[in-house]
Amino acid sequence: MRRHRYPQPPSLVELGLVPPEEERSTPHRRSGDELPRLKRFRFQLLARWVRETFPPCRVADVGGGKGLLTYLLRGDGYDAVVIDPVEQPLPDRYRDIDGGQRVRIPAEASVPRITAPYQARLGEPFDLLVALHAHGTNLAVLDTAARAGSSCVVLPCCVIEEPSVPPRDQNWFTWLVQRAAGLGLDPRLFHLNFSGQNVGFYVRGRRP
Ligand SMILES: C[S@@+](CC[C@H](N)C(=O)[O-])C[C@H]1O[C@@H](n2cnc3c(N)ncnc32)[C@H](O)[C@@H]1O
Repeated sequence: MRRHRYPQPPSLVELGLVPPEEERSTPHRRSGDELPRLKRFRFQLLARWVRETFPPCRVADVGGGKGLLTYLLRGDGYDAVVIDPVEQPLPDRYRDIDGGQRVRIPAEASVPRITAPYQARLGEPFDLLVALHAHGTNLAVLDTAARAGSSCVVLPCCVIEEPSVPPRDQNWFTWLVQRAAGLGLDPRLFHLNFSGQNVGFYVRGRRP
């Protein structure tokens, strides 16, 4: 597996996503009990953000892993499908974002999956491509959005199995944002309140 090490992405302050006072308070927040709880909510937070940002439409959950994001989006009326080469079962439960209580996923529940590496041909029919910490697909998702006029949401993490990579002194996040702009897209930054790589960008295409 080709894996690359690059500088960390810019901080939320450097990206202009939070004012400096708020970031100064982050170390305090992160040392508290909140951290594991936020981590467990990352699919729920992204599903809620998608609901607030895009109307119900056809969504490809690219590199969607077990499919919890797809499961939640389908519950919200989106026609969501996982595209991932590794067949993985849904988790058996998740936590409700508002009350914090555990919600069981019925044993017989499943989500539609395309069990294959992502390719533009697979992504083109969808209105919205979501790549949450997806491997090997970030550039292909941007190319698809540029060609097909679809929207996309990208929260990149590692540089794994991508067809091209930034120079060693550039961070992956900024390089991808610039790549999107270079394709004529208008990337907008956002972040979600979970621990880990929680910064992303989205492009609003002609559809949905
Ligand atoms: C770090 S996991 C992220 C899974 C999920 N999105 C999440 O946030 O938990 C990366 C996922 O990318 C998938 N993947 C690897 N190569 C891929 C490819 N070429 N096309 C689509 N998915 C791929 C892996 O199977 C894995 O499920």
